Amino acid sequence: MRKQIVVGNWKMNGSRVTNEILVSHVINDVNENVDVECVICVPFPFLGQVQTLVKNSELSLGAQNVSDQVKGAFTGEVSASMLTEFGCKFVILGHSERRMYNLENDVLIGQKARSAIANGLTPIICLGESLEEREAGDTKAIIKRQLHGALGEVGHESLERCIFAYEPIWAIGTGKTAKPEAAQEVHRFIREEITHIDNYAGQQVRIIYGGSVKSDNAFELFSNDDIDGGLVGGASLSGEDFKKIYLAAKQKNK
Ligand code: 13P
Repeated sequence: MRKQIVVGNWKMNGSRVTNEILVSHVINDVNENVDVECVICVPFPFLGQVQTLVKNSELSLGAQNVSDQVKGAFTGEVSASMLTEFGCKFVILGHSERRMYNLENDVLIGQKARSAIANGLTPIICLGESLEEREAGDTKAIIKRQLHGALGEVGHESLERCIFAYEPIWAIGTGKTAKPEAAQEVHRFIREEITHIDNYAGQQVRIIYGGSVKSDNAFELFSNDDIDGGLVGGASLSGEDFKKIYLAAKQKNK
């Protein structure tokens, strides 16, 4: 069975004071439940602080972006090796907000993932359609393009080193969660696409759901066969809610 994983995406939120409170809320539960992985992806300036807060715990640290370049004259960019110096193990890539506001495309996202993997990081590659694309019946075509566009750069041999997140854009920050069976259908489709490339990777790779995951819908979503946990935005900013979501993933293991 694939190990469930719950990832908090803090986006551009947090402060030195609130970060400490948030981490202290979840860290004990995460230490006691090692059968479910827990990650928090924090803004760059907080990596050092949160690295110290999670030291010697089972709570893992991640970032929300990385450069595709190794080093040099790239003002404002952060390299994968810098992230590992701060104890990062994961990096979210291809989030729809970065696709939209920073015009990131599938190829660049794949190049970033390649750079992350080369430095021992696990990329969490986000895929998802807009409302118009869903209503036009294009969901699978969009997901397929995003998946294969990124994998063309990552290389099929590194497929197993990736996590994929299905995040329908219309469900992000809107309170409109995908119906569990609709999410499962897309997760199954992603897994089938991966299986066509590599049967073993198709069984091993984790595919997590994001988009208005809350404490009251997490279990219903996570209990589907091809949903291996969640990528949580707003609710990851509340220690109490994030803890409940994390524990919902644990219930699936029973
Ligand atoms: P919300 O959980 O706030 O909908 O955000 C989802 C998301 O974008 C996680 O990456």
